[in-house]
Amino acid sequence: MTTRAVVRGVGHYLPDRIVPNSEFETSLDTTDDWIRSRSGIERRHFAAEGQTTSDLAQRAARAALNDAGMQISEVDALIVATSTADLTFPSAATMVQAALGMTKGYAFDVQAVCAGFIYALANANALIVSGQARTVMVIGAETFSRIMDWSDRSTCVLFGDGAGALIVQAEDAAGTPQDRGILSTDLNSDGRYKDLLYVDGGVSTNSTGYLRMQGKEVFRHAVEKLADTAHAALGKAGLGADDVDWIVPHQANLRIIKATAQKMGLPMDKVVVTVQDHGNTSAASIPLALSVGKARGQIKPGDLLVTEAIGGGLAWGSVVLRW
Ligand code: UT7
Repeated sequence: MTTRAVVRGVGHYLPDRIVPNSEFETSLDTTDDWIRSRSGIERRHFAAEGQTTSDLAQRAARAALNDAGMQISEVDALIVATSTADLTFPSAATMVQAALGMTKGYAFDVQAVCAGFIYALANANALIVSGQARTVMVIGAETFSRIMDWSDRSTCVLFGDGAGALIVQAEDAAGTPQDRGILSTDLNSDGRYKDLLYVDGGVSTNSTGYLRMQGKEVFRHAVEKLADTAHAALGKAGLGADDVDWIVPHQANLRIIKATAQKMGLPMDKVVVTVQDHGNTSAASIPLALSVGKARGQIKPGDLLVTEAIGGGLAWGSVVLRW
């Protein structure tokens, strides 16, 4: 017998304002065609003025609770993966706690940029497997529109705002690859690549800063590392690519998503793709894709999912779970 962290509910929230690629054509030397062909992005959502990451997060959390048919009082731990918390402190997670009326348990943020949800989910799994929590809410939420340099066409057309939430709960299982729940995790980072994708400001440097990215280099690392981490996680679970029903990748670039699927020997009809509608929402992209994938009728109970992401750090990783 073993303990598995099994999915109980999923939900998401996207801000009302939808910005099509064409909106950038008026202010930048860019075209809808360039953005679509180089990234696959067609539109993205931007948070309203004054709308914060924790606001998006608490709305996604409510949707996940509703999906699970659960009350917030049943949640022991709440983790928010974000690089764009409302304030330097307290954590976005404690703000979500307050908004939801969660007065027991504990809440904290995880910051691993675009790989943040993978890191947060791996931590949730560790809390559950070690008996430190029974039910964990894992949220990915971002307002990357707040850290865009609107004069930099190579970055500002790529990102969007949003939030997704997943509730996982302890369940006794046989300890085989056929179990439901999280079957394996694989986390990696390599700080030698910290200058490829970063924000050029922060509290300790007394500035706010904007996102800076060497896109071509990040692209190269992504294609190389994502299939590797997915294979590593599948191997740890005693599974292979042939067992996968759905790849749920970080939604940064359709060309990266296609190249990763190809390297794994899997067709695109086994990949949940939302990048065209959301852009790159960093730590929110995977839970958003899980929620949309379920709502579309793609992800069904018993399906084997491999999720993978890479971002600033570089930090990357993968989680294998049976829905
Ligand atoms: O979520 C974290 C992980 N992030 C990623 O995975 C992002 C990884 N990188 C990428 O997705 C891609 O590298 C980009 C979409 C950022 C860029 O695609 P690319 O095929 O690597 O293009 P590039 O950087 O080689 O740029 C090609 C050209 C350049 O012009 P020159 O130097 O060839 O004359 C850029 O200046 O495209 C130009 N360019 C643009 N042109 C029109 C860059 N941005 C734009 C733009 N509109 N918005």
